[in-house]
Amino acid sequence: MRRILFVTSEAHPLIKTGGLGDVCGSLPQALLKLGEDVRILLPGYRFAMTRVRHLKTVVEFRVPAVADPVRLCETRLPGTSVKAWLIDAPAFYDRPGSPYTDTNHQPWHDNDVRFALFARVAAMVAQGITALQWRPDIVHCHDWQSGLTPALLSSLSPRPATVFTIHNLAYQGVFGYDSFAALQLPSALWSYTALEYHGQLSFIKGGIAFADRVTTVSPTYANEIQTPDFGHGLDGLLRHRAADLRGILNGIDPREWNPARDNALAAPYTQRKFIVGKRANKAALQAELGLPLRPDIPLMGMVSRLVEQKGVDLLLQALPGLLKQPLQVVVLGTGQAYFEQALSSMAKHYPTQVAVVIGYDEALAHRIIAGIDMFVMPSRFEPCGLTQLYSLRYGTVPVVRRVGGLADTVTDATEETLADGRADGVAFDGETGDALQAAVQRATALYHQQAVWHQLCLQGMRQDFSWRHSALEYQRLYDELVPRTGENL
Ligand code: ADP
Ligand code: GLC
Repeated sequence: MRRILFVTSEAHPLIKTGGLGDVCGSLPQALLKLGEDVRILLPGYRFAMTRVRHLKTVVEFRVPAVADPVRLCETRLPGTSVKAWLIDAPAFYDRPGSPYTDTNHQPWHDNDVRFALFARVAAMVAQGITALQWRPDIVHCHDWQSGLTPALLSSLSPRPATVFTIHNLAYQGVFGYDSFAALQLPSALWSYTALEYHGQLSFIKGGIAFADRVTTVSPTYANEIQTPDFGHGLDGLLRHRAADLRGILNGIDPREWNPARDNALAAPYTQRKFIVGKRANKAALQAELGLPLRPDIPLMGMVSRLVEQKGVDLLLQALPGLLKQPLQVVVLGTGQAYFEQALSSMAKHYPTQVAVVIGYDEALAHRIIAGIDMFVMPSRFEPCGLTQLYSLRYGTVPVVRRVGGLADTVTDATEETLADGRADGVAFDGETGDALQAAVQRATALYHQQAVWHQLCLQGMRQDFSWRHSALEYQRLYDELVPRTGENL
């Protein structure tokens, strides 16, 4: 049994703003089932600290460059047997708002300090200098918030092995040189081969440059990020690390996302009864969102962060053309004010066809994915994407742009894939509103051929998107670093 420390800024249901929370809430459970001893380290955000019933302080210690001592509070990830440690440092984490932004959606002014503290605590736990009776063999870091950890550990010997997973290369944690100085990071790390990025401090470079292995969340995205178009300025470094870079597709938590046992739904349904089930959920959703009850016309939806990555602008361009035909559209999301306003005014303009909910609502997300006919994801880039996987499992047909994990998970309905039964969605190329409009029109044409549509829905529902395969891939990656029989370093 290997000891693996997950260093992540999100883990559902303790804290989640997107797919990172889903992955770090479910992959540890899958690894635990495979016999690994996985623990999670998280910042003690106010929301997370108040979500757990039993919270026990296990150690208290001082961290360099931080005035007050910090404590680790132990709990279990609710509903699982996975142990989690929350870093109790109220001056940095006991705040309203999201993990990254204040209540006005502005980044916290001290995110550099907050996540340097997080990374330092992880490095201290990893070195065994916190009096905690547990020391990892492998430190598995996720996204820029944990990026300094592999860098801080790199000069130590012995040290645990490190893995860094990129969930989204667009978010890099870049701060001014002043931050580097104020954080009192080792001066050797100020180099273009280390944390320096065009004269600034880059947290994500700490992970990419120093981890023993770098992974990302789909094979296609692993290739894409090595190109200038998708590399966000780091494609050179990623090509340099190509031998240690893998794409491992995300899985989903099949208990959390199971249409047969989903308490959020008006009418849970199984594969056998999906036609009746989906009809009931569609009607309930139309009623809930104030749309006319129309079982006969396609209902399309999106549940997403409303940011450029997700191609919200493409949807806004395509909608006026699409709404000339019988079609209803529902959107649930939060994000850039411009997108929130533009979508809300669409809903005002087309009250019988468009319903928009601005906000974050986990249960409504489930009801939308169950109640709609097709889920639209015109992403500019998509490291993996989980909502298309949830849709497939719920018999909802994804309409996706053929990028990243979307290209790896959705099989476009063509004559050939329909004939051999592999088709489960609609995938399109091109980054324009017209391309999206054409794809949705193709999907609506399929919708009106009932038998074909039901075949698409069923093919999605039949597949296994659980962590079964991908957790094994992570295990094989860990094997390269620490043999399975290996004990402590
Ligand atoms: P990303 O991580 O880029 O946001 P993913 O598709 O990987 O994209 O994961 C998004 C996750 O966040 C899904 O679980 C989705 O249901 C959830 N989500 C996004 N926006 C909302 C929202 N407004 N309300 C509820 N859940 C949301
Ligand atoms: C990121 C990506 C998304 C991915 C998720 C979990 O937020 O945008 O594509 O599914 O992380 O890995």
